[in-house]
Amino acid sequence: MPQPQHILAIDQGTTSTRAIVFDKAARPVASAQCEFEQHYPDLGWVEHDAEDIWRDTVRMASEAIAKSGVGPAGIAGIGITNQRETVVVWDRQTGAPIHRAIVWQDRRTAKVCAELKSQDGFEEEVRTRTGLLVDPYFSGTKIAWILDNVAGARARAENGELAFGTIDSFLIWRLTGGAVHATDVTNAGRTMLYNIREQRWDEELCRILRVPMAMLPQVHDNAHVYGHTEASLLGAPIPIAGVAGDQQAALFGQACFEPGMAKSTYGTGCFMLLNTGSEAIASRNRLLTTPAYRLNGQMTYALEGSIFVAGAAVKWLRDGIGVITHARETNDMATQVPSSHGVYMVPAFVGLGAPHWDPDARGAIFGLTLGATQAHLARAALEAVAYQTMDLARAMVADGGAAPERLRVDGGMAANDWLCQFLADMLEAPVERPVHLETTALGAAFHAGLATGLWPDLAALSQTWTQGQLFEPQMASGERQALIAGWHDAVRRTLS
Ligand code: G3P
Repeated sequence: MPQPQHILAIDQGTTSTRAIVFDKAARPVASAQCEFEQHYPDLGWVEHDAEDIWRDTVRMASEAIAKSGVGPAGIAGIGITNQRETVVVWDRQTGAPIHRAIVWQDRRTAKVCAELKSQDGFEEEVRTRTGLLVDPYFSGTKIAWILDNVAGARARAENGELAFGTIDSFLIWRLTGGAVHATDVTNAGRTMLYNIREQRWDEELCRILRVPMAMLPQVHDNAHVYGHTEASLLGAPIPIAGVAGDQQAALFGQACFEPGMAKSTYGTGCFMLLNTGSEAIASRNRLLTTPAYRLNGQMTYALEGSIFVAGAAVKWLRDGIGVITHARETNDMATQVPSSHGVYMVPAFVGLGAPHWDPDARGAIFGLTLGATQAHLARAALEAVAYQTMDLARAMVADGGAAPERLRVDGGMAANDWLCQFLADMLEAPVERPVHLETTALGAAFHAGLATGLWPDLAALSQTWTQGQLFEPQMASGERQALIAGWHDAVRRTLS
């Protein structure tokens, strides 16, 4: 039997689930993707049906394998990457979730977080241990919410009858037929319950956030054989050999293996990660310190700036107010007008993330005149994404990181040339776009390929990275500064 030469990556994101088969040259050879339903049961609440996610995952994975023509026997391993922080709590006996998944964007625990923050020294403690801030974004308070709001759940969790997991963990559980309850360091690091320095679940934080430790998964390296899929699901038992939260997976897929290398991913939100090597830099500018990857027990850390709304603003232009019919139109609309005509959009639809962390802020549009058109709105939405990235880069520099010499971009919105150029102008640094934008899935595939021996080491992975297009800064400094001043004024007026 020849050795299998392909990896299947499952990328379970906030609005879609995709599966991609990569070959040994890290080229995507087949893919399948579908969007799934978002539930907004109350103001600021966002939920997913974990059963939808499960069904789509198996369907997309089967479809991608079938399209690839290599069959399940040709797949050396599966890499899973996922929307992070989103919480699933399920019954260990039946595997059934006891509540819809509470999504990372959900703000229902804002009040609990405000109370926790008011406790003297608590936020500092959270920051030191987890690298995070106290914010509803992270899983901890969401888990407690489910335990407090589903009848009998807390007692059952304490008895060990319920399991918690981020989406990766839930998928591993289901794919292995309930045999494995595990996650990786990058997902664990987003729960507000995991001590990223000591690399263990933190008993005291679990006690304060009221999360029974009996429900937590085991934490492993990113490149690790977690278990095997049940043969009936994908046609053969396949090792699940790589797991990483989507933003860390993108950093890995962009081959940012050296300290000082950075990437920004434009999906639903935008997340900029800077590799800081073996040092967990504590941010003084409200960035997050987060595990980037752990290989053979060796941890590499990153500084992260998290922006909650990037592609979601364009989706809102399409689905919310009908200004566009397809996301790609924004590229041409932005080019049609010489400027945004003084229009600024602050896309605080679910509050503001880094560096403001204001869960109560809400979206706003400033500077409307009778001359403002749909094109100006579209341009303002794209500009906002670039301005926010620039704010993150500045915070990273203020934290003592060197300004990244160049920024690697990926995710759906990175296909937008106008955005990439404007971003280079705002950052005053070159923006590099790889040939393949699916670096999130690729990062998970890389981990699985390392664990199964398809690729020997990081150097082999770096060799597969190919630049597609380079955007050099072009804008005159006076113009840039005026635009940025207008942006900061708009943000000031939006904060709660
Ligand atoms: O932290 C949330 C993040 O993992 C979501 O990523 O790609 O769905 O915007 P995405």
